[in-house]
Amino acid sequence: MKTIDLRSDTVTLPSPAMRQAIAEAELGDDVFGDDPTVNRLEAMAAKVMGKEAALLTTSGTQSNLAAMLAHCQRGDEVIVGDEAHILHYEAGGAFALGGLGLRPVRNDEQGRLDLQEVRRAIRGRDVHFPPTGLICVENTHNRCGGSVLSEDDLAAVRRLADEYGLPVHLDGARLFNAAAALGVPASRLARYADSVAFSLCKGLACPVGSVLCGSREFIAGARRFRKMLGGGMRQAGIIAAAGVYALENMVDRLAEDHDNARLLADGLSSIPGIVLAPPPQSNLVFFTAEGWDLGELVRRLGQRSVLCLDEGGGRIRMVTHYGIERADVEEALVRVRELMAAGA
Ligand SMILES: Cc1ncc(COP(=O)(O)O)c(C=O)c1O
Repeated sequence: MKTIDLRSDTVTLPSPAMRQAIAEAELGDDVFGDDPTVNRLEAMAAKVMGKEAALLTTSGTQSNLAAMLAHCQRGDEVIVGDEAHILHYEAGGAFALGGLGLRPVRNDEQGRLDLQEVRRAIRGRDVHFPPTGLICVENTHNRCGGSVLSEDDLAAVRRLADEYGLPVHLDGARLFNAAAALGVPASRLARYADSVAFSLCKGLACPVGSVLCGSREFIAGARRFRKMLGGGMRQAGIIAAAGVYALENMVDRLAEDHDNARLLADGLSSIPGIVLAPPPQSNLVFFTAEGWDLGELVRRLGQRSVLCLDEGGGRIRMVTHYGIERADVEEALVRVRELMAAGA
């Protein structure tokens, strides 16, 4: 029985052509700035995001932490959504390694920051207060169901940040998904942020990596923090070659993943007992199953070679990605339907 792995778009494997690009990559020592393939990827990424410069990092987590460190001083507070990946899933690096406070404000169901709360959270200049150093937004928004923040949503955060002279960092691990969903170039979404991080190792199907983009000065600062975080990589062109290939070949296909997510969501919602929460806007599908212990449901689906995640909070997550075809979604739906019919 074929395994249909819907746990995450991070399970994607490089295509034969991507492997070929990796094998043939021209290499040098990137810590000396000598790796031509890394330099090429960074130049391409900066251009795609409409920024001056870019930096290849090991992961989205490293990009986000390097960005926070480069924007802030120790003791500063970073405003983040209360559903933000930075807050929930990045091992508290901002606190533990950065000496930064994370100040959560409400994310609505769409993943937008509550701007009234952001305004209240921004500290005035007073000796008692930790200074506010940065506002972070996330697009697409993982815990808010892969929801897509529009240009208007991002512009509103930008205006507020400008009122207080604060920088904005965009955790765009899946920014190309947001761009595909909105039908706009990624740079249109990145322009509202001072810095943007996007992942290579998710929907773009690279084996590893993320790219942080921003002004030349900001990236020079982030480069030092990347080194401090252990992310100075030598012949990193091996990784960058996959990124170059992905930017040229893997971006346009993301719309397919969104079509498959809708197909999956429609099929799931027609199965008695399954309730979608909320309908997908990109490649993430969340649902619950009435009368089931969700951990048990995930385990039993695993026995039928359909892999997904119990996200906690009463939700199961399935993700469509490169390597999952329409036929795989249809087959997964058959297996879920059979299991649900058999009962808890
Ligand atoms: C929105 C978001 N930001 C950041 C990350 C972190 O990326 P990485 O797993 O490469 O550290 C993820 C990973 O899933 C994510 O979903």
